[in-house]
Amino acid sequence: MNENTTTINWFPGHMAKTKRMMEEQIKLVDLVVELVDARAPLSSKNDYLNELWQRRPRILLLNKQDLADPKETRAWESYFKESYGAVVSLDLVHGNNSQKIKDAAEGLLKEKQEARRKKGMQEKPLRLMITGIPNVGKSTLINQMAKRGEAAKTGNKPGVTRDKQWIRLSGGMLLLDTPGILWPRFDDQEAARRLAFIGCIKEEIMDTYRLSRDLADYLYQEEKDKLLSRYGLADGAALADPDALLLAIGKKRGHIMSGGSVDLERTSRMLLDEFRSGKIGRITLEKREKGE
Ligand code: G4P
Repeated sequence: MNENTTTINWFPGHMAKTKRMMEEQIKLVDLVVELVDARAPLSSKNDYLNELWQRRPRILLLNKQDLADPKETRAWESYFKESYGAVVSLDLVHGNNSQKIKDAAEGLLKEKQEARRKKGMQEKPLRLMITGIPNVGKSTLINQMAKRGEAAKTGNKPGVTRDKQWIRLSGGMLLLDTPGILWPRFDDQEAARRLAFIGCIKEEIMDTYRLSRDLADYLYQEEKDKLLSRYGLADGAALADPDALLLAIGKKRGHIMSGGSVDLERTSRMLLDEFRSGKIGRITLEKREKGE
């Protein structure tokens, strides 16, 4: 690896504690809803706890599909259908998806409910939990399901759990109101870099300029048309150098400081923000066809 590229070392002290907590949480639910970012579905998954999740049926949500390449999202859907009970692509900001998720959950748990009924057992509300690494949209989803799902906080419900809060959803489901927050992957620097590009890794631990330079380099290699068109640049051999590319973008945007040099800090920040908000285009960093 080039010594100038971004390296991310993120070692949270809470991994063992999180795992223990998840082991407890999973016992409380019938189904796990796992959120990932559709722009980097593999990097934004935490497979460390796979063995744990496999104890329950799982729905995978490919979120932020509004920012991802639709063709790639379809390809990822088919790919993940092999290992998940259901796969749903979402855009939590521009639409409400609660019903889709509830339908998928009911579909997956139908047999279990049916079996209980046949045994003459009392019907129990289906219990769901949401999990994922930071910034994939867990809180947004919980708020959305709570709002539109005729939710009412059930409080500390005897017989369900002693100290957890449940949100009652329409159709007799209960949603655990605290998401299972997983840690982002840091074992693979490429994956960590993708997570940093999409904003899933804390900014404080990174050098904005280097990260932005890596992003510029990636976009020039993989999404050249979108990049050049966004910043009105004409292609040329010089742009293959990421430092020169950032300078050119800064100049085009008029990020000039009093001495006449380009304000690279400002340009770096802007490039990251514009990429993350989809202004450069709908870009999936992990292409399914390439088997990344
Ligand atoms: P988390 O609980 O998993 O950490 O994620 P959270 O819901 O806080 O979402 C992280 C950011 O991602 C939020 O933006 C949220 O609005 C945005 N987001 C969630 N789902 C989608 C989606 O489908 N599409 C797009 N484009 N964005 C989505 P933020 O800027 O961090 O905060 P906010 O000011 O919007 O709340």
